[in-house]
This record gives sequence, structure tokens and C-alpha cells, in this order.
Amino acid sequence: MTNTVPDNPVTQLSLQVNGREVALEVEPRITLLEVLRERLDLTGAKPACGQGECGACTVLLDGRPVNACHLLAVQVDGRPVVTIEGLRERPEFQALKEALVALDGGQCGYCTPGFVVAAYAVLRDHPAADEVALRWALVGHICRCNAYENIIAGIREAGRRIG
Ligand code: FES
Repeated sequence: MTNTVPDNPVTQLSLQVNGREVALEVEPRITLLEVLRERLDLTGAKPACGQGECGACTVLLDGRPVNACHLLAVQVDGRPVVTIEGLRERPEFQALKEALVALDGGQCGYCTPGFVVAAYAVLRDHPAADEVALRWALVGHICRCNAYENIIAGIREAGRRIG
């Protein structure tokens, strides 16, 4: 009797990414973050801890922030995913971009897309969110440059601009 190693199985997926239908074949072990970055060339969400602990890979799934490194692509089959690239035309994104730049709310910038996606979700639903609410909403987002005060100030300023 011979032992054979099966080929890696693939699964058909139909994703909705930034409003676009995307059909893909993926191995079940592939994460949503890997699909976004390596198959769809959407590199705004960043790989960092790979364990759902830092927020660098945050995207919206069903409109809510999630860690894309911690989800298998097969788990999001048929569900709407929005990456930071998909937020460009939204007024909350523009306000966040301008306020974070003006208030120096990002240093190396690696964590910035994750913060912006999470902040977008807060301001979309609660433009007048106070500082405590913002800090709670951003729990789990780590800035390696320790620019938290400026990030929060920038998000609060964006809220004032759109509120
Ligand atoms: Fe996904 Fe850190 S890379 S949470």
C-alpha cells in the first residue's frame, strides 16, 4: 500500500470587496488578509502580529471592524468586505485623513490604516463620540511609535469636522 499526499484542496469563494464581486479559488488555510494583499493587491491592511492583537490588518466585515489576519477567507464567503482603499470617497475618510495629517496623528504610519478603518466605523455611526468612546473603540489597536495622543486628537477633530 502506498501513502499518497493529497493535493491541497481549494475552495471556491465569492467575495464582495469594496463593492466589487470577486470570484476566487483558495486553500482553506488562507486568511482574509492574505487574499486581500496577495490576490487582490489591496495592501492597505497591514500584516503585523498575525494573531488578532494589534489591529494593523483591520478591515470592515458586514460594516464592522475585524482583524483580517484572524479570519479565514472561507469564513467571509459572500459577505461584504471594505478595506481602507474602499473608504477613499467617503467624507469620514477625508476628514480623518486631513485631521490626522494636520495633528501629526501617525509617525511611521504602519498602524495608521487600521486606526483609520476603526475610527471610520465609529465616526460613521457616532460622529460626536467623545474621547472615552473613541478610546474604547480603538482598544486593540497598537501604535508602535506611541502616537496615541495625536491619533486620538486627530480622530476627535475629524468628528468635529463631520459632526
Ligand atoms: Fe492582524 Fe495584528 S496583524 S491584528
